[in-house]
Amino acid sequence: MCGIVGYSGGRSAASILLNGLKRLEYRGYDSAGIALGGPDGVCIHKREGKVAGLVEQLGDYENRPEIQRAHSGIAHTRWATHGPPTTANAHPHAGGSGEVVLVHNGIIENHSSLRAKLQADGYQFVSETDTEVLSHLIARELLETESLVDAVRLALTQVVGTFGICCMCAAEPDVLVVARRGSPIVIGLAEGETIVASDASAIISHTRQVIYLDDDDVARIEHGSVDISSLDARPVTRETADIDWSSDAVEKGGYAHYMLKEIHDQPEAIRNAIRGRLDATRGTAVLAGLNLEPRDLVDLQRVVFVGCGTSLNAGLVGEYAVEDFAAMLAEVEQAAEFRYRNPIVSSTDLLLAISQSGETADTLAAVREAAEKGACVAGLVNVVGSTIAREAGRGIYLHAGPEISVASTKAFTCQVAVLLMVALKMGRSRRMSREAGIQIVKEIQRVPELVERVVATSDAIAMVAQHFTECQHMFYIGRGYMYPVALEGALKIKEISYVHAEGYHAAELKHGPIALLEKGTPVVAVLCEGPGKDKVLGNVAECQARGAVVVGLITEGDEESRDICDHVIEVPKSPHYTATITATVALQLFAYHVARLRDCPIDQPRNLAKSVTVE
Ligand code: G6P
Repeated sequence: MCGIVGYSGGRSAASILLNGLKRLEYRGYDSAGIALGGPDGVCIHKREGKVAGLVEQLGDYENRPEIQRAHSGIAHTRWATHGPPTTANAHPHAGGSGEVVLVHNGIIENHSSLRAKLQADGYQFVSETDTEVLSHLIARELLETESLVDAVRLALTQVVGTFGICCMCAAEPDVLVVARRGSPIVIGLAEGETIVASDASAIISHTRQVIYLDDDDVARIEHGSVDISSLDARPVTRETADIDWSSDAVEKGGYAHYMLKEIHDQPEAIRNAIRGRLDATRGTAVLAGLNLEPRDLVDLQRVVFVGCGTSLNAGLVGEYAVEDFAAMLAEVEQAAEFRYRNPIVSSTDLLLAISQSGETADTLAAVREAAEKGACVAGLVNVVGSTIAREAGRGIYLHAGPEISVASTKAFTCQVAVLLMVALKMGRSRRMSREAGIQIVKEIQRVPELVERVVATSDAIAMVAQHFTECQHMFYIGRGYMYPVALEGALKIKEISYVHAEGYHAAELKHGPIALLEKGTPVVAVLCEGPGKDKVLGNVAECQARGAVVVGLITEGDEESRDICDHVIEVPKSPHYTATITATVALQLFAYHVARLRDCPIDQPRNLAKSVTVE
């Protein structure tokens, strides 16, 4: 949510910052801005709209000496929270009379009271943002202190809320000060220069060596030197880490959209997620990062999955699988609800926090709440070094590679693959036989190849999609393991094609939603072979009797369902638990093609952002 880039070094900063912003645009894209520091002070350029608009505004900047001689700067791409997406509300924000400039990700919760005090002291506000409050606060502290880093520290001690910030000032134009609380900041280290960003995709083309700041760290950066300290000015040492993916991973690789590329990435991503984690001899999963021995697992009485959005839907598959494989209590809960519900958890509960980014504010808060209550907490996270991964202490990385498209695809299927392995491990520590475990191992190992087969049917799915480019509403229905698939299918299509879509348990349809069906209303029925399929076929008949047009997501060779449905999309035969993955891939492609045919901005849907680091 909001992208931040900063640079201090020997090169001209503008193109480094603008290229970094393009990489981060998936984090927010309603306005963009850049501030460049040079001998003439700090100069801000910003505007409403996407990064391309800002680049256009800068004109032939590579031949503008006043821009090229800036060797430091900060930049931002915004997802609006306080104040609409206008040029005035775009970052960077100036503080004082322009001596301080700041980009910020997060929310300053006490901004109203701070604003009133600053206004009483004569500070003039030109935006509606909470960020401008912080920039004036830093400017005010700078009047009392020697250096920007001290001013930032003093200002941050007055702030309630979350922040990832990057700040510079006219008096020390080569110095950047960055700090974080709740919003990530990564510092990329290179020879004689430092690149700062809210995530590593903006850094990877310059260096693989990074430092992830912890909450309440403040870093002073000047060219290649980085000094990290705490908010109360004690020196702090943070380890340097290596980014283990290449810059190709953040390129489109010839695909029209990141989403399509990431759908195609899935066979390989799932291979990476399961590699070395399945033991075909013992019929179990080896999940070293969980750091739970069979005797620890036996003591656990319940697994609670928490997440938001797509990760929440993956958690629902996890709940079904843990009950199914391990005959163990399991439940899934929306992370925001969990944190505010005063949940009943104890030391015999395993809380598994599911998050692609590892930064979602509500999921992180749920982790903290569960840890506070003494639960065993683990993370199921994609982004290495992210806050949830670090705070959970134990967990499993997805190894899905960077996911750039706002609509999550490969993260979901890798989450489900890992959750099946978690359930398998739980099952084997309880009543599941070795033979049953070996069978599940074999089925999970088949998944990458099955997904390859689904991806290869993209054109056939596009043919079905072309019948639904004009529709306003859709329903997705499923039962059992196919219920979360219906939810995820509906989420995908509403995110990227702006068709209003709702996922329902097929049995729930009669309890209200069926009132909305009329002639031509599309219903996507997830009819993969398995328990409950026949019941869904019954629900299909009820829908058709009311004029609905039914798209059946069916198992190859299921002639009965083919005959009944108006259109079909096929997936290869597999057990219900792994069909959660193949069926979802088919629905990702269906959503993708509907959105493409409707000419929607697939990778950057309106109002959304990739990671939601605010409540
Ligand atoms: C946002 C994204 C979704 C994502 C959700 C949870 O809403 O747009 O695609 O599923 O956040 O994100 P997480 O990183 O925690 O999985």
